[in-house]
Amino acid sequence: MAKVKKTYFCQNCGAQSPQWVGKCPSCSEWNTFVEEVVSKNEKKLFSTGPATKRISKPIAIGEVSDEKHNRIIFKDSELNRVLGGGLVHGSLVLFGGEPGIGKSTLMLQMALQHSKARVLYVSGEESMKQVKMRADRIGQTSENCFLLNETKLQHIFSHIEEFQPHILIVDSIQTLHSDYLDSSPGSISQIRECTGDLMKFAKETQTSVFIIGHITKDGSIAGPKVLEHMVDTVLQFEGDRNHIYRLLRTTKNRFGSTNELGIYEMQTGGLIPVLNPSDVLLNNNDEALSGVAIASTMEGMRPMLIEVQALASTAAYGNPQRTTTGFDTKRLNMLLAVLEKRCGFKLGAKDVFLNITGGIKVNDPAIDLAVVSAVLSSNVDMPVSKEIALAGEVGLTGEIRPVSHIDQRITEAQKLGFEKMILSKYNKGVKQSDFDIELIQVGKIEEVFRHLFGND
Ligand code: TYD
Ligand code: MG
Repeated sequence: MAKVKKTYFCQNCGAQSPQWVGKCPSCSEWNTFVEEVVSKNEKKLFSTGPATKRISKPIAIGEVSDEKHNRIIFKDSELNRVLGGGLVHGSLVLFGGEPGIGKSTLMLQMALQHSKARVLYVSGEESMKQVKMRADRIGQTSENCFLLNETKLQHIFSHIEEFQPHILIVDSIQTLHSDYLDSSPGSISQIRECTGDLMKFAKETQTSVFIIGHITKDGSIAGPKVLEHMVDTVLQFEGDRNHIYRLLRTTKNRFGSTNELGIYEMQTGGLIPVLNPSDVLLNNNDEALSGVAIASTMEGMRPMLIEVQALASTAAYGNPQRTTTGFDTKRLNMLLAVLEKRCGFKLGAKDVFLNITGGIKVNDPAIDLAVVSAVLSSNVDMPVSKEIALAGEVGLTGEIRPVSHIDQRITEAQKLGFEKMILSKYNKGVKQSDFDIELIQVGKIEEVFRHLFGND
């Protein structure tokens, strides 16, 4: 038996140290180092079974089978899209998200819908009854979906040898433990060990593996750097639990673009793909209200029209409040400072609340123009016309800066029946003759104000 070896691991980023340190030299978090046993026994992975019998040999690159024929295509178009056109055989996908967001639901739904592939769903978190209840809720059943309640990795592998599934789902990596380590399930060394073994398993047997991972409070998957390096694809499930929309993003993909985005609606019968996001994200209120502006944004490669709502009111107490949902508060503060300095609006003494509808988090800088317009509209209490969509980044000097994929943004606004679109005049190559929608090209924030609210 090998000597017991102990090391300290940062529970946030997975950095190692032979002794305890207060502050992690890698991620600068305090008090995150915990002692873990790293080796206990000599390790024998796949002691029996097909994996060890296979010896790899060099193959000419031209003879390697074409990857296109090698994907599992799901019924769920959003999932296919974020995976880069289906799931590659033998790939390891890490699927992260906050607790309760719908990770288990999406995976089970995928397993039930894709009845052609034999799927093994290993649940370490819920009993079989609970999983069955969820399946009943989704309202589907499949003869090829098998459940397993197990948390010990070696037992899982022995079941797999018997079952030979095409797809393995592990829910969740934090509950697994390997016999070869003494540290508790969910610790960095266990997560790393189990993921490493699953990766080897996926590559050697060409089985596709989904690993569900919970994310920590700051939004990263526990042991993020370690895991993200090891896996082929990282999917993130986001959204506000109080809203029905969920976004599925790819943050790493060895087999496709990371610019893809999937959108789902959480309903009583599971997650339904949203094929026309702009349709559902816009409020179909006929009445024009002050404090509302429509942004033409791009999430990944998908154009999406999103409603931005703002409320600016006189601060009741000394310190004005800035509260945002789905938008960076620091960025809002910056935009308010620009409005104050360049346009002379006294927003410093006002409470400003900002809301992106649907609880969707938007990182696209092109939403700036709609944010500024919504704040101005609420401030002067005059509605922005419902026929106008906006796309532009606001710079520190109050200039409207160009944004990427402007053609797609304009086309989307046109498709949804908008009559005018305000964009930066610095966006090169935009020709009015190419579009039916009226394009208003502006260079400064003052011009936007004039266009929206008349000539004052
Ligand atoms: P779950 O998949 O358990 O989340 P996770 O695995 O990420 O922790 O999803 C739990 C939430 O989803 C729960 O709040 C109930 C909701 N839900 C629905 O709204 N409709 C459904 O059909 C299902 C199965 C769940
Ligand atoms: Mg779950």
